[in-house]
Amino acid sequence: MVDILLPLVQDLYLMAILTAVGVLYAVGFLLFEEQGRLSKESERIKNLAVLATVIWLVTTVGGVVVEVANLLGAGFLEAFNWSTLTSFLTTTSIGRDDLFQMIMGLGVIVLIVRAQKVGAIYFALAATMLALVIPLFQSHAASAGNHGLAIGALIFHVAAVSLWIGGVIGLVLISPRARERSIARFSALALWAAIIVGLSGVLSAWARLNFWSGWHSRYGLLVAIKILLFSILVVIGAKHRRTIALKLEGGRQIYRLLLNESLVMLVAVAIGGWLSTSIPPTSPGAIAADRDPAIALTGIAMPVSPSVGRILWSYSPDGTILGLLLLITALYIYGVVLLRRRGDSWPVGRTIAFAISVSLVDFATSGGVGVYAHFAFSYHMLGHMILGMIAPIGFVLSAPITLALRTLPQGRSPEERGVRGTLIAIIHSRYSVIITNPIVALALFDGSLFALYMTPLFGKLMRSHSGHLLMDIHFLLAGYLFFYVIVGIDPNPRKIPHIVRIIVLFAAMSIHAFFSIALLSTSSLLDGGYYGSLHRLWNINLLSDQHTGAALGWMMGEIPILLALVATFIQWMRVDSREAKRIDRAADRAAAMGEEDDLARYNKYLAGLARGEQPRSE
Ligand code: HEM
Repeated sequence: MVDILLPLVQDLYLMAILTAVGVLYAVGFLLFEEQGRLSKESERIKNLAVLATVIWLVTTVGGVVVEVANLLGAGFLEAFNWSTLTSFLTTTSIGRDDLFQMIMGLGVIVLIVRAQKVGAIYFALAATMLALVIPLFQSHAASAGNHGLAIGALIFHVAAVSLWIGGVIGLVLISPRARERSIARFSALALWAAIIVGLSGVLSAWARLNFWSGWHSRYGLLVAIKILLFSILVVIGAKHRRTIALKLEGGRQIYRLLLNESLVMLVAVAIGGWLSTSIPPTSPGAIAADRDPAIALTGIAMPVSPSVGRILWSYSPDGTILGLLLLITALYIYGVVLLRRRGDSWPVGRTIAFAISVSLVDFATSGGVGVYAHFAFSYHMLGHMILGMIAPIGFVLSAPITLALRTLPQGRSPEERGVRGTLIAIIHSRYSVIITNPIVALALFDGSLFALYMTPLFGKLMRSHSGHLLMDIHFLLAGYLFFYVIVGIDPNPRKIPHIVRIIVLFAAMSIHAFFSIALLSTSSLLDGGYYGSLHRLWNINLLSDQHTGAALGWMMGEIPILLALVATFIQWMRVDSREAKRIDRAADRAAAMGEEDDLARYNKYLAGLARGEQPRSE
């Protein structure tokens, strides 16, 4: 029963959560909104997302009972026991994921029911997609060698599948008139999703079946069927685009194509769910994770002692970060190409800054520094400094927000705020004003160092793939926010005086120096035994390696802050000289017109005050 029920419940869960994504996606991105408010049509179909979320919750609860019965080898009635279920949900990683699903599901229902603006729908969509991808960190991909690639590819695969199939489900559910108006946007986004599904699917298959005999298994056969289904979907997709381009009798043809597409997709999803509950074949000669603690913990075999060559040329792809880098690079290039096509220019320096930062992040996560960071604190700190201090400066100077504002689509009708309008609303939202406060940015930038390394958190996060990923993404975002607030060239909801920026930079330097000295004077290990449990045969003195990391962090941390200080001074001088020129030009203009300039008027006002005249109420 369990062998039948597990894939079945998994498939029902996938269908329900993908439908919820689909409806939210249609309401958030396909249907027209009115100045950010939901239209009548959106109000109508958003209830379908509530229904799908309820089914998602029910299948999650069902899945828990089947998993507990499976683990205990007991019947479902025995498994359906409160204390057993609560201990499963709170003490096992899979159980905690299911609990996370339930909490997210309930939160999404509340968000959708109360939603009146598209902003709330975006939150509900993001929460649903997060609930969809989080369990993938625990999927059997996690036990395979190169699990960084396997997990990353699967996350992008499932996220893109959800947007692709979600869009189709959304279009099938909305009215023919709304479908006509939003099909062009669906088609544009579906193309991106299909490309990502195909690429990540092939990478997922490669990560699990990169040996010929693996294809002679049931798992291999299922993957082959999926490739066939994907090719059929590509053909249907091409027909879609042709029908749209040629406006061939519109409604009915499109609707038939959509129905066929969603049927093929649902079969592909069913097979995908089946795959995810079946164990992939093991490649001959693969080192079993249980025989190598390094593979069990990091997904990478223990490397030999580091050398300059090995740091420069080692590579073990972290699929999630690599996927994110490929996605933002594709979007950045797409933006620059759009501008060029419009005849607008984009400073090449910005594109170069972007490219350098992307390469640095890849080097610090999948490249040599990223590989050795799993095995030695000193390399971890080197990676941290690249991700938190150096790469963010390039991203800030590449002005991604300005590029987005210049290329994102405007409203499709006079009433519609449009994606560009939504970004402007986000930049000027209460949340952005709070997060761009220099104190908040500094607290996230430097404060989190103490929270991470001076508590057991670091050791905990190093032991899981999702924890490691969370740390890397936090370093990047905290660094980006800090340098965006201090030396950013993109629009900022706050006007921060240069003197304040300089004070914050000096504060950042001293806090960072204080942190490094505290780290240098540690006499015990901070990693909760993580590096020790890897039994590496090089740099075996773990404490001295920790101190090397502290020294590296200090040295590498101060340099970017110093550079930002110089940049802020230069910016300040430039603004001042621009202001001086403006005042001079105004004075010249006033003089030419025979009028008093500002200065003369102000001096006259001061003289009046001196003579005891009442101050002007401006
Ligand atoms: C090039 C074509 C494709 C290939 C090579 C491919 C390959 C894979 C692989 C290897 C997995 C991982 C299974 C595991 O966890 O072991 C997977 C999962 C999955 N795939 Fe695909 N896939 C392809 C296309 C599609 C399409 C077109 C869809 C749906 C429209 C789809 C939906 C899914 C789903 C829902 C999962 C399961 C996610 C889960 O773990 O819950 N795939 N796919």
